[in-house]
Amino acid sequence: CGIVGYVGGQCALDVVLAGLKRLEYRGYDSAGAAVLADGGLAAAKKAGKLANLEKELAERPLPSGPTGIGHTRWATHGGPTDANAHPHLDNAGRVAVVHNGIIENFAGLRAELAERGHTLGSETDTEVVAHLLAEAFSSCGDLAESMRQVCRRLEGAFTLVAVHADDPDVVVGARRNSPLVVGVGDGEHFLASDVAAFIAHTREAIELGQDQVVELRRDGVTVTDFDGAPADVRAYHVDWDASAAEKGGYDYFMLKEIAEQPKAVADTLLGRIDASGALLLDEVRIPASVLREVDKVVIVACGTAYHAGMIAKYAIEHWTRVPCETELASEFRYRDPILDQRTLVIAISQSGETMDTLMALRHAREQGAKVLAICNTNGSTIPRESDAVLYTHAGPEVAVASTKAFLTQLVACYLVALYLGQVRGTKWGDEIVSVVHELSAIATQVEEVLETMEPVRELARSLAGKNTVLFLGRHVGYPVALEGALKLKELAYMHAEGFAAGELKHGPIALIEDDLPVVVVVPSPRGRSVLHDKIVSNIQEIRARGARTIVIAERGDEAVRPYADHLIEIPATPVLLQPLVATVPLQVFACELATARGNEVDQPRNLAKSVTVE
Ligand code: G6P
Repeated sequence: CGIVGYVGGQCALDVVLAGLKRLEYRGYDSAGAAVLADGGLAAAKKAGKLANLEKELAERPLPSGPTGIGHTRWATHGGPTDANAHPHLDNAGRVAVVHNGIIENFAGLRAELAERGHTLGSETDTEVVAHLLAEAFSSCGDLAESMRQVCRRLEGAFTLVAVHADDPDVVVGARRNSPLVVGVGDGEHFLASDVAAFIAHTREAIELGQDQVVELRRDGVTVTDFDGAPADVRAYHVDWDASAAEKGGYDYFMLKEIAEQPKAVADTLLGRIDASGALLLDEVRIPASVLREVDKVVIVACGTAYHAGMIAKYAIEHWTRVPCETELASEFRYRDPILDQRTLVIAISQSGETMDTLMALRHAREQGAKVLAICNTNGSTIPRESDAVLYTHAGPEVAVASTKAFLTQLVACYLVALYLGQVRGTKWGDEIVSVVHELSAIATQVEEVLETMEPVRELARSLAGKNTVLFLGRHVGYPVALEGALKLKELAYMHAEGFAAGELKHGPIALIEDDLPVVVVVPSPRGRSVLHDKIVSNIQEIRARGARTIVIAERGDEAVRPYADHLIEIPATPVLLQPLVATVPLQVFACELATARGNEVDQPRNLAKSVTVE
C-alpha cells in the first residue's frame, strides 16, 4: 500500500524506512525493504508493524548502499505473513520487486513460470513479476526495458518498483492506476506512492501518468510508456506541509476517503465482471451447487455496514427471490435464530474484527449455516473464520466514520446478489445483465456527484446552529436515510433520526415544527414510480407543517422541485443502485456540518474505528 524507492548519496535504507514511516497513515499489515550494496541485493520483510521490521533489521542488519526500495503492504492476495510481505525476489535473489494493486492474470503467468523451472515461494501475485523481470533482464540487460516487457504482459491494476543487483544505480517503477510520484532531489531521486514519503528531502515532484515506466538514476529520470516511447509527465512543486501530505492535501482523512470513492468502487468491481457482463466470483469458494440449495439469506453487521446489509436485502430478494433478513449482529445470536445448512449468512465488516459480527458468524456456523464475509481487511478474523470472503478492495479507511468502505460494501452486496441470481437463474436475467452494465458506470456517476457538492457544503454550514435534522426515505432510500442520520450523529453530535417515509404519519410527523431541516431521499421517477409519487406526497405533508425540505432527487425530476427548499440533484441510476449516489451528499453534508461546529472529524468523541468488544 505504501511504496518508497531511492537512489542517491544517502544511505538508501535510512531514507526508505523514514519514507515508509511517513506512509504509515495509509494502513498496512506488513513491511519490507531491499537494498543494493557490494554487488549484491539484500532484503528483509516482516508481518505486522514497521517496528517488527526494525527489530529484524537490528538483529540482522542490511548493508549500507545507495539504492533501495521499501513497501508497506495491505494484503490482497494471500494473508499478511512474512512470506507474503514485499519485496519479492527471483530465485537467484538478484531482483527485488514491490507492488501495489492486483495482477489479474497472475495464475496463468505463475503456471507458465513453474513450467520453465521457476520455484515460487509465496501466495502473492507480485512474485511472478520478480521472476518475469529476472528472465527479461537476462536477455536484454536493461531493467527499464525489462519492466516494459513485463508490464505489457500484465493484466489488472498495478504499480511496481524494482531493483536489480546487476544494474545497481537504477530504480525502476511502473504505474497503472495506483499513484506513483517521483521526488527530484539534487543528485538523488525518490519514488513513492505519495509525496509524504519524501517531503523531508524535496518538494519538487513529477507525477507519473497511467501506463508509464520510470527509470531513476542519481542524476536523471527517464519516463516512457509501456512501449518505450518518451512520455509526457507533469512536474510540480509541493506546497503542503508534511502532515497535509499524508492526507493527500485534504484537511481530513474523511474528506480524502470521500474523494477516493470513485476509485474504490471501481476497484471493487475490478476483475469481477467479464466482457459479456457475466459475474466472475470464483473467489467465493462456496460451490454453485450449494448456492443453488440456499433457501434463506441472513445478513449480519453493525453500524454503517448494517445499513449496507439493509440495502442488500432489497437487492437479494428482488434478483434471487430468496428470502433475506438483515439483522444487527449484536441482536442476532441472542434471539436464537433459525438457521441450518441451507442458510447463507453474509457478515459485512470493514475491519473484519468487529466482535458483535464475529460472534454472530460463529453462532451461524455452529448451527450449520454457510458464512460469506464481505470485508475490507485481508487476513482479519471475520474472513478467516468464514467459509468464503469477498474483499471490497477499498484500501485502508482511516477516518472513524465509514465512507468508502460503505460504498464498496454496497457494490460487493450487489455483486453477491447478482451472482446468486446468475447461478440460480431467475426471471430477472435480462435485468441482471443491464444492472451489471450500469454498475460499471457507477464510478463515473459518483465522481459527478462529488463535483457538484459546493451547495451541499454551503447548506451544511448554514445549519450548524440547529439541534435536530430528520432524514426520510422509502425502499432502498430508507437505509440511506438511516446512514445519513448516523453520519450526522457520529460527526456533528446532533440529534438525527432516519425514518421510513411511510411511517411518518404513524408518529414521527409529530416532531415536525417550523424550520426543522428534513432531508428526503427521493427514488427515481422512472422504474417503480409509485414509490416516487408516494414520497412526493410525504414531502408535501411535512412542508405543510413547516419543515425545511432538503431533497435529494434524480436530475430532471421536475415533480419534486416545487416542494424542495433545497434540491440536491444526483445522476439517474437503476432504482436498486441509487444508494451508491444518494449517500455521497449525506457524507459531505455531515462532514461539513461537523467541521462548522468545530468537531474533530476523523476521530469523533467516544467512537472507535473497530469495536472489538461485545
Ligand atoms: C464502528 C465504527 C463504524 C462501523 C462499525 C462496524 O462502530 O465506528 O463506522 O460502521 O464499527 O465496523 P466494521 O469494521 O465491522 O464494518
